[in-house]
Amino acid sequence: MCGIIGYTGKHSVKEVLLNALTLLEYRGYDSAGIAVSGGNGYRKLIKCAGRVSDLEKLCESENIDSTCGIGHTRWATHGGVCDRNAHPHRQGKVTLVHNGIIENYKELAEEFNISDSLISETDSEVVAGMINHFYSESGDPMSSIVKTVKKIRGTFALVIMFDDIPEVIYSIRNVSPIVATITDEGAMLASDLTALCAFTNRYFVVPEYHILTLHKKDIKLYDLAGNEVEPDFQTMDWEKNSADKGGYPFYMEKEIMEQPDAISNTIMPRIKDGLPDFSEEGVPDDLFEESKRICVVACGTAMHAGLVLQAWVKSKLHMHIDVETASEFMYSDPVINNHTLVIAISQSGETIDTLEALKYAKKQGAKSLAIINVKGSSIARESDYVLYTNAGPEIAVASTKAYTTQLSLLYLIVCRMALARGILTKDEVMADTAALMSVPESIKDVLSRRNDIHVIAGNVLEAKDLFMIGRGLDHSILLEGSLKLKEVSYIHSEAYASGELKHGPIALITDDTPVVAVVTQKKLYEKEVSNIREVKSRGARIVLFVKDELSENLEKEFHVWRLPNLKDELMVFPASVALQLFAYYVSSDKGFDVDKPRNLAKVVTVE
Ligand code: M6R
Repeated sequence: MCGIIGYTGKHSVKEVLLNALTLLEYRGYDSAGIAVSGGNGYRKLIKCAGRVSDLEKLCESENIDSTCGIGHTRWATHGGVCDRNAHPHRQGKVTLVHNGIIENYKELAEEFNISDSLISETDSEVVAGMINHFYSESGDPMSSIVKTVKKIRGTFALVIMFDDIPEVIYSIRNVSPIVATITDEGAMLASDLTALCAFTNRYFVVPEYHILTLHKKDIKLYDLAGNEVEPDFQTMDWEKNSADKGGYPFYMEKEIMEQPDAISNTIMPRIKDGLPDFSEEGVPDDLFEESKRICVVACGTAMHAGLVLQAWVKSKLHMHIDVETASEFMYSDPVINNHTLVIAISQSGETIDTLEALKYAKKQGAKSLAIINVKGSSIARESDYVLYTNAGPEIAVASTKAYTTQLSLLYLIVCRMALARGILTKDEVMADTAALMSVPESIKDVLSRRNDIHVIAGNVLEAKDLFMIGRGLDHSILLEGSLKLKEVSYIHSEAYASGELKHGPIALITDDTPVVAVVTQKKLYEKEVSNIREVKSRGARIVLFVKDELSENLEKEFHVWRLPNLKDELMVFPASVALQLFAYYVSSDKGFDVDKPRNLAKVVTVE
């Protein structure tokens, strides 16, 4: 979950590393550090608990004369947040940064007799000690790395420098990602593309268990036997400055505002003659026709996108679909076989729980389709088929545009499945596809009235607890809205299926408890409104997001915010954007660092 950077080239490494770490900070922001090397044994290591901005301050007073170095921004796993646990770590002649978890680090520290020399409590420093051990014996960096990784169990992206080999950087990985590039400016690697996209749009994913070496004018890749391997360069389609804040105070706001374009970019290239078409991406109709059941594996917001898919699949395809929290999946004896289509949904494509769930499902014979935002990521590579959401980089920890682009792509898939399975006619699918194409406009409408949502948000700033209630699709929408609010505002928020209130949760409603309700489904209107009245009559303060055409009469009773009219099944789009804005304004008005909520990280690569 940490951010990693390595650079050797023409430029002052201090600037390169600090700029890259700022971009990678969303991967973890407990502590940060850099180590640099140069000719004549020049070395420096600077690190601290805190943010990259704290590291920058420390570096201001340092005269760093180097063009080669490594950097790290941490999300603590082993050992508390303190200066000595920050990366890079040093043992003997070896300095490294690490992302991942070494499961057998305690045994290894004993075996290599390095427990007493450890300064930190991290698993990573043990790896530095092991590489140093082998390097002292052989003086050979490659074999020292190979011997070390053969002994360690777990996940790792390691970036290593040796004192005796200045200006060269070594790297190896298992599961945890590393991407790399070479330009006229130098060679660079990072844990993800956000750090590279300011430099170039050419990159390659370092294959697992391959050693990468960065030199000032060259980059080399070897397998564990020492054979040179050609890197598989790819082109990223992100704009050069797509990882900037674009003038917004926070990435979250920028990313909320980008949703109309992000959705258009995701769906339009896949609509041919008015119908969804995935043939260019090699996803065959057979996959959609032959599957007997669907199983979604995903986490967090991506799992909530799966819940919306579930509602669509049931209502439009009348098909069996399970949505599984990926971290629970393989321990819950899932019923899957070669007739199951497993859909893995993930923004980052690196979430370890989703990746492991997918691997497990494949072993049981399931076919797999991944819905991913980051090209070439681990889940994308593991899956039989992949469809990318073209959301561009999502930097804020709270997912927004990734979610709505996932939904837009999932809706297209459901439409294609309906056609392939003969459930809907061509004309019916064309009508649904056209309805989806109107989603960006309806989101623009919500965005244009965001100031009113800001005012509503101002009324809950002091709340400790808040409830969100709705039924059917509205409940799925609120599960996501509630996650958004809790992660960025730290207000305890729970989403309930409103029919369930009377079975327990209504006991929590007291005078002035804020309750957010969403009413967008005609067939549920009366029941939902009754449930809202039930909590209102017990003192709750209601904020109601309601589909415009259902809003008549309600404004007399409730504080109403009107959502633009779309087909009921597509109301998830404007309603979700309204709830994203609600969460965003609560957080920013409370003065929080919206993009980096406490204890979280953007990419979750530990189980
Ligand atoms: O990268 P992924 O989509 O696989 O990430 C899954 C979750 O970790 C992620 O959606 C998380 O819940 C977000 N912080 C929610 O805003």
